[in-house]
Amino acid sequence: MTRLVAHSSTSLSGCVSVPGDKSISHRALIFGALAVGETRVEGLLEGEDVRATARVLSQLGAEVRRNVDGVWQVFGVGIGGLHEPADLLDFGNSGTAARLLLGVLAGHPLTAFATGDASLRRRPMGRIVEPLKGMGASFVARSGGRLPLAITGASAPAPQTYRLPVASAQVKSAVLLAGLAAPGDTTALEPEPTRDHSERMLRAFGADVRVEAAEDGRAVTVTGQPELMGTAVTVPGDPSSAAFPLVAGLICAGSDLTLPNVGVNPLRTGLFETLTEMGADLVLENRRELAGEPVADLRVRSSALTGIEVPPARAPAMIDEYPVLAVAAACAEGTSVFRGLGELRVKESDRLTAVARGLAACGVAVEETEDSLTVHGRGPGRVAGGAEIKADLDHRIAMAFLVLGLAGQAPVAIDDARTIETSFPAFADLMRGLGADIRAGEMAGETA
Ligand code: S3P
Repeated sequence: MTRLVAHSSTSLSGCVSVPGDKSISHRALIFGALAVGETRVEGLLEGEDVRATARVLSQLGAEVRRNVDGVWQVFGVGIGGLHEPADLLDFGNSGTAARLLLGVLAGHPLTAFATGDASLRRRPMGRIVEPLKGMGASFVARSGGRLPLAITGASAPAPQTYRLPVASAQVKSAVLLAGLAAPGDTTALEPEPTRDHSERMLRAFGADVRVEAAEDGRAVTVTGQPELMGTAVTVPGDPSSAAFPLVAGLICAGSDLTLPNVGVNPLRTGLFETLTEMGADLVLENRRELAGEPVADLRVRSSALTGIEVPPARAPAMIDEYPVLAVAAACAEGTSVFRGLGELRVKESDRLTAVARGLAACGVAVEETEDSLTVHGRGPGRVAGGAEIKADLDHRIAMAFLVLGLAGQAPVAIDDARTIETSFPAFADLMRGLGADIRAGEMAGETA
């Protein structure tokens, strides 16, 4: 166990780069493996989740390597060219790796056995098993379609039109990735737009991808059996990781931070809009395009925040940011209500309950329903803290509560912070570099 303790901090300052975008990093390796020739990836997130994708792709016959200069190279095998793996595929903590790569495997005539850590083995895979069966793959899975599971990919993958029952970029991407191996058009119909990194990057690799308005939502179509060509990818900073120093800068008095080169894809920026509506002094400077994705430098200064109601329609554009938004809401004046959060229950942990319990342990009044959270803000400097939070293999719960500890009256501890390695390996050092008081070890105080 690696316990970390966050103590009250002020005047966070400096200019720091957050690590590469996790969603884009997975996709760069996967599309590189399915392309012909070499793909070079700069700024890849070197966290445990993306390393799991790299390891699995190597087991499937692609060559993935890191150069001394930190650039990653992938030598792809072409669509349909992956090999049957000789051993179990371990996706670790990563839902994205599991769901996207099972989509890839569904289009290959091979059998593979897949598992993950205790968190991933709790998460639903039925949402991809169902559409992938429709394309000709077969599965043997635990009840509820959970890992470990065995997949036998289709020998003649069939294109299909599939309506997503939940707003999920992972499910959409699994369907599109399987569709790459099928002759003709495969369409994912999504009820609400979700992150479109797969669509953008598939085009950059040479695939024909169309996005059209549909009766209720939008239709994303890929034409199967293209020849993907290896390309150069530059990965922007992850807005979901930037969220932690950003909120820390808002709630720690006297702070002034710059986070350069952060992805600002409009399907990811719900948190930035919400914080701005709460009164955050947050400026997106130097907007530009980086390898097909919009990026900007974020400038943030501590701010007096007020509570807010976040509409459910915004949830897909900030689905990973609710834990740290709840921390901002706890330090705001007034009440915040977040609705349409059912999906938070099936993330790395049940984030709705984890956030509600953790805030209550830190002296913040909250109400939790099946799919909503109400946070009664304590106002700046008035969150008690003084709790130990169980990370439960959830990196974003760990980071969110460390951020809360920086603004708490008493310290906040995380029982096992190793889970942060999945998405933001240098988190504690980066925060210390800004002036945050985050220490390893024991904490005297209550246990939640
Ligand atoms: C992701 C999609 C989201 C998000 C996850 C990454 C992706 O999950 O929560 O962290 O890279 O496609 P869902 O697809 O389940 O909404």
